[in-house]
Amino acid sequence: MRTQVGIVGAGPAGLLLSHLLHRQGIESIIVENRSRDHIEARIRAGVMEHWVAELVDEIGMGARMRQEGLVHEGIEISFSGRRRRIDLKALTGGKSIVVYGQQEFVKDFVAARLAAGTPIHFEVGGVSVHDVEGDGPAIRFSDRDGAPQRIECDFIAGCDGFHGICRPAVPDLKIFERTYPFAWLGILAEAAPSSDELIYSSHDNGFALHSMRSPKLTRLYLQVAPDEDIARWPDDRVWEELQTRLTQDGDWRLNEGKVLQKGITPMRSFVCETMRHGMLFLAGDAAHIVPPTGAKGMNLAAADVLVLSRALAEFYASGATVALDAYPATCLARIWKAQRFSWWMTSMLHIFPDQDTFGRRIQLAEIDFITGNEAGARALAENYVGLPFDA
Ligand code: FAD
Ligand code: PHB
Repeated sequence: MRTQVGIVGAGPAGLLLSHLLHRQGIESIIVENRSRDHIEARIRAGVMEHWVAELVDEIGMGARMRQEGLVHEGIEISFSGRRRRIDLKALTGGKSIVVYGQQEFVKDFVAARLAAGTPIHFEVGGVSVHDVEGDGPAIRFSDRDGAPQRIECDFIAGCDGFHGICRPAVPDLKIFERTYPFAWLGILAEAAPSSDELIYSSHDNGFALHSMRSPKLTRLYLQVAPDEDIARWPDDRVWEELQTRLTQDGDWRLNEGKVLQKGITPMRSFVCETMRHGMLFLAGDAAHIVPPTGAKGMNLAAADVLVLSRALAEFYASGATVALDAYPATCLARIWKAQRFSWWMTSMLHIFPDQDTFGRRIQLAEIDFITGNEAGARALAENYVGLPFDA
């Protein structure tokens, strides 16, 4: 097989990249080691930054997102028995976020790619990348029937997530990393959201988050120990703890319902420098991870592939490599800002095991300061809705 850009991974990064390239007349082939059903059912991110939702519209993919996604103009921060609203729209000159499940985004883009004739090879095995230093890189894999295959291409995009094979193919990487002494236990419940907006709660027992997927589905998270055994969290215990951590003012109660899915996610900050080796370019979670408190992961993946698609378009139009050469630096400037925001939100809102009462008072004073003063609230809001694309 031969194509212009070989893409490893059909997550948000790989699918969006393929779509953006197609719009520029550039061909791609995607290889994905899981099944279509699996990637379309995998519950992960929910928040799309303002510019990402606009981009999805601009590239003709916004129909279902605009119908089923939920536009949020504010978020709530709960602490010390009260709740404060961050008015995203007022503080950012009219911007908002869209709550739309990542798996819905994936479904929309898989359907569009297949309809446009882009090959997506699902359930492949033994994927490896070759000859990336030269002009003729290749991806090798065995297809669903076990037959060996090879894709020859001009460029390879490593969009294969944190545990993929592309990052290990880049020599001499510098890794910047922080692991946190906690994880998130997430549930999806058949219950109407209990508030119109997301609620981030810093409680003495630990952090909790109220989010949603639709008018009938609530998505909720609890801070738990990093090595927590999910068997210790039967549904009753999860609801009791969520009620405790989220019910902070008046007679507000969290709606409960059947738990449809439950899982634990570790929390990590991770950046690798650089993001390119020869003709191999890393994008999305393959190159960086943020703790989910800032809701930035999928948005950063979108930012990387927008930069990469523009750079590839410039190359195919004129042969110029300036934008391709600048790809790591352009992306990393944004990545580090998102890392800072995600680390800060995480540090401000979670309980740390070694934290003493002084540390907790300081943390509460910071939340009070940030949410109670316009400059602080604006800084939070501007980062949350997403920095302007070229910032
Ligand atoms: P992935 O989605 O990981 O996609 C990589 C793809 O590559 C996968 O389909 C994988 O199967 C495939 N793959 C892996 N290895 C190979 C291989 N060897 N060969 C072929 N294919 C391979 N982000 C936000 O922006 N907002 C949020 O609200 C948010 N909440 C989150 C909540 C949770 C609980 C979690 C876990 C994450 C959250 N994130 C959030 C992060 C977000 O989900 C990720 O950042 C996003 O999925 C990154 O997309 P990606 O395409 O780079 O990687
Ligand atoms: C989600 O809805 O899954 C979600 C929302 C906000 C976050 C993280 C996850 O910060």
